[in-house]
Amino acid sequence: GAPIEVDLSPVAEGQDIKVFWRGKPIYISHRTKKQIDEARGVNVASLPDPETDEARVKSGHDQWLVVIGICTHLGCIPIAHEGNYDGFFCPCHGSQYDSSGRIRQGPAPANLPVPPYQFVSDTKIQIG
Ligand code: FES
Repeated sequence: GAPIEVDLSPVAEGQDIKVFWRGKPIYISHRTKKQIDEARGVNVASLPDPETDEARVKSGHDQWLVVIGICTHLGCIPIAHEGNYDGFFCPCHGSQYDSSGRIRQGPAPANLPVPPYQFVSDTKIQIG
């Protein structure tokens, strides 16, 4: 599939949008300061799939989280801005992801993957 460009300028702080890339749902979250602080305040070593928040976002664009919205348990589509960690909640078997898309609770074994993407301007990304 071809890369896609997504204009982020209509996405307000605290909002999430869903786009499709190669047939997969991609969540783009414009995170609040609270969500960023929560993602960075955890002890990374305690996470089931330890990754820093900094490694999952682009430096200088830390408010934007881009993840593939497919639960790493059995492939359901988690709901954005739901659950106990200000992130994503999978209704199928209750996996809880945080505001960095990292698995925190429930049966999913791994974090929501970050697709290949880059900022092509301050308000536009290219995925793929
Ligand atoms: Fe998401 Fe099972 S598919 S918790």
